[in-house]
Amino acid sequence: MILSGKELSELVKKQISECCGSFARRFSRKPCLAVVLVGDNPASLTYVRSKKKACEELGIAHLDVSFENTISQDELLSCIAGLNSDPSVDGILVQMPLPSHVDELAVTEAISPEKDVDGFHPQNIGKLLLGQKSLVACTPKGILRILDHYEIKTAGKKVCIMGRSNIVGKPMAALLMQKGRDATVTICHSRTPDVASCTREADIVIAAVGHVNALTADMVKEGAVVIDVGINRVPDSSKKSGFALKGDVDYDAVSLKASAITPVPGGVGPMTIAMLMENTLTAACRREGIEPEDLDCGCGKSCCGGC
Ligand SMILES: NC(=O)c1ccc[n+]([C@@H]2O[C@H](COP(=O)([O-])OP(=O)(O)OC[C@H]3O[C@@H](n4cnc5c(N)ncnc54)[C@H](OP(=O)(O)O)[C@@H]3O)[C@@H](O)[C@H]2O)c1
Repeated sequence: MILSGKELSELVKKQISECCGSFARRFSRKPCLAVVLVGDNPASLTYVRSKKKACEELGIAHLDVSFENTISQDELLSCIAGLNSDPSVDGILVQMPLPSHVDELAVTEAISPEKDVDGFHPQNIGKLLLGQKSLVACTPKGILRILDHYEIKTAGKKVCIMGRSNIVGKPMAALLMQKGRDATVTICHSRTPDVASCTREADIVIAAVGHVNALTADMVKEGAVVIDVGINRVPDSSKKSGFALKGDVDYDAVSLKASAITPVPGGVGPMTIAMLMENTLTAACRREGIEPEDLDCGCGKSCCGGC
């Protein structure tokens, strides 16, 4: 089974758009996302463009803020302070990576937790770990949504996560180990002596490494579910852009053994953007004193309640 995040994201975005319409009717304004871009990293430009396009499709306003690579940390922090206190802004996204002279953690911590739609603020990560209501990191949240949509149960399953980053591996593990999700989680990283022995045991493998072919067919058991988070640019002269996007998984070989697998592109990536939109709506609702499910938008699903 191909787990199409692309198809699912279209469905989810339709529901979010209905909820955004309902929000706009009730509060006479659209939810608003501030998008902060520093420099001209080509991948960042592409991501920011896709995020703004999604806002426009769904009825979310976006406030664009761009800086040269040379911006000082203090200038960036004062911009964020301004967005924190701007009543028209519901969510703040600072596109990473930032230039090396800027401390990314200081920037993440400067964003008001209520507007932290990426879900990276220590307060949101801490609440997530404790199983409390928070804004949940978009990529792990999108992966859960894929598993739920395709009725892949996590309770009692062994899940191996390759990668321990703060934005994917750690929040993914925290979500899966919560009561109700009930998975038994193992995390591997670059210092794990025998990664294959962990992945081979797993019913579900989530690869978030950042290397092409980090997960090969000999590393998965027959019938495993494989989620490929990786987005790697590989030179490809047949493409106009000069590169192709590949995941972390050796897709052709692993898909012959897996019972279900996400493709790259068209898997986790589109769901990450959809979840960013959902978090923006959630942040907007909470700033108005309601939860998204209170919108009564008739989308047919409690689609925006978070995890
Ligand atoms: N689809 C999406 O929406 C989305 C969102 C976010 C990220 N991504 C992509 O996902 C990938 C990972 O992103 P990230 O931000 O989590 O990366 P990251 O911060 O570079 O973390 C990579 C992790 O992989 C671990 N690692 C390295 N080699 C390994 C190996 N052979 N086996 C197991 N673990 C290994 C590293 O271990 P150490 O900690 O020991 O270094 C690290 O924890 C990238 O390709 C990124 O572009 C995609």
